[in-house]
Amino acid sequence: MLKSVDVLLERYLAITRAIAGQMDFQSVLGEIAGEVHQLFGHDHLDISILLPGNPDRNVSFEVGMSTQWGETRDTPHRTAQSPIRDLLTGKVSNFLTGDACNDARFHFEGAFDSPIFEANLRSRVHVPLQVHGAVYGSLNISSQEIDRYDDEDVEVAQQVADLLAPYFYALIWGDQAKNAALAEGAARGREEALRLGALRLTEGMENERKRIGMDLHDQTLADLTRILQRIPGMKRNPARAGSAFTGIANEINTCVKELRRIIEDTKPSVMDLFGFTQAIEAQLERSVAGIVPPVKTSVQDLTASIVDEFPDSLRTTLFRIVQEAINNAVKHSSPRQVSVGIDADDFIVLINVCDDGSGMCEPEENPTGGMDNMRVRAAIISAELDISANGPEGGTRVSISIPRNQSLPGKAETMENEPLVKAAI
Ligand SMILES: Nc1ncnc2c1ncn2[C@@H]1O[C@H](COP(=O)(O)OP(=O)(O)OP(=O)(O)O)[C@@H](O)[C@H]1O
Ligand SMILES: [Mg+2]
Repeated sequence: MLKSVDVLLERYLAITRAIAGQMDFQSVLGEIAGEVHQLFGHDHLDISILLPGNPDRNVSFEVGMSTQWGETRDTPHRTAQSPIRDLLTGKVSNFLTGDACNDARFHFEGAFDSPIFEANLRSRVHVPLQVHGAVYGSLNISSQEIDRYDDEDVEVAQQVADLLAPYFYALIWGDQAKNAALAEGAARGREEALRLGALRLTEGMENERKRIGMDLHDQTLADLTRILQRIPGMKRNPARAGSAFTGIANEINTCVKELRRIIEDTKPSVMDLFGFTQAIEAQLERSVAGIVPPVKTSVQDLTASIVDEFPDSLRTTLFRIVQEAINNAVKHSSPRQVSVGIDADDFIVLINVCDDGSGMCEPEENPTGGMDNMRVRAAIISAELDISANGPEGGTRVSISIPRNQSLPGKAETMENEPLVKAAI
């Protein structure tokens, strides 16, 4: 297809105008698709990008028709399986075919070539995206018409690719820099969380010492004193000592249980030390430990730990609800994955516990069961609880939404329902 220099120049300028200011691959492609269409009349347009630092894998971005190539962004594909691997590895300088469905170069053992057939891509032009002479991706133009492109199209495609290449390259490295900054931020965040955890631990232990002192005084000391007071009676009346011994043994038993409770309560919890999200992570790990086949777990907190701003008792109640939802998912649904998401807008905090398991049958009426406790706990802290099917992929989603203003400073002291909250923990 012969194109005049004026037309080409006009299109190239339009392409450069279109990409300016676009900050990601998909937007760039979306913006240039129209201009590129004027040049090639394509049915499918995509770019493949080798992963920076791992050229054995690549991802594709496409516009117009969507194929499995475009679905691989979250799981990058092996470059060795790409139908255009020879171009991506620099073995050939371009690909031009009049009918990709019947061109042996695209089809080899293990080739990820199914989209060619599914989308009926016939004529194809592939040119490299390169910087400093090294290939880091490709521009791929396809038409469903046989023999649509010729050498001139390859030349024009290469010029378009050369226009786009520096821009895409900058986007890749911009992304890399952003990810590095995020990773560094997360590492700093973890360090800060540890520091705060240690601080809270010191304060927490001081409070614990006081609480243990009081518990030992009010409970254990009182129990032991009572037991001791029974000894003189036994001495005075040895004949009844046998039955008295049983009573004492029972009381010592109770005392030991009480001591155990005091010791149990003393251990600072993960939540006290590291916050709600880490406590959920620890709970997930504990709940799925030893299950075969293994259950994947994930926690995503998009709120910068907003739940930790809630009063302690409310936070613990939320944790108990999430804990039961996690345990139910693991116990009843045989899931492959259980995930917890925490998100917030200006008004509410939303916590989702999702599994991809069997889904809920009608739960049996069990007024003392965990779900019932979840509902009671949610009602007490004014949270909404919703249990529903987890979208088309199956499984169950438990959503807890709670008004955000409960985290306002001072709320902890003034919350009218604080005693009720304590009762719900
Ligand atoms: N995530 C889930 N996937 C599939 N079924 C579920 C899920 N959560 C709950 N169920 C169903 O709902 C029922 C009621 O759950 P509930 O937590 O009230 O009781 P339980 O887990 O059986 O017992 P408990 O919590 O008292 O130990 C369960 O027996 C189960 O059939
Ligand atoms: Mg349960």
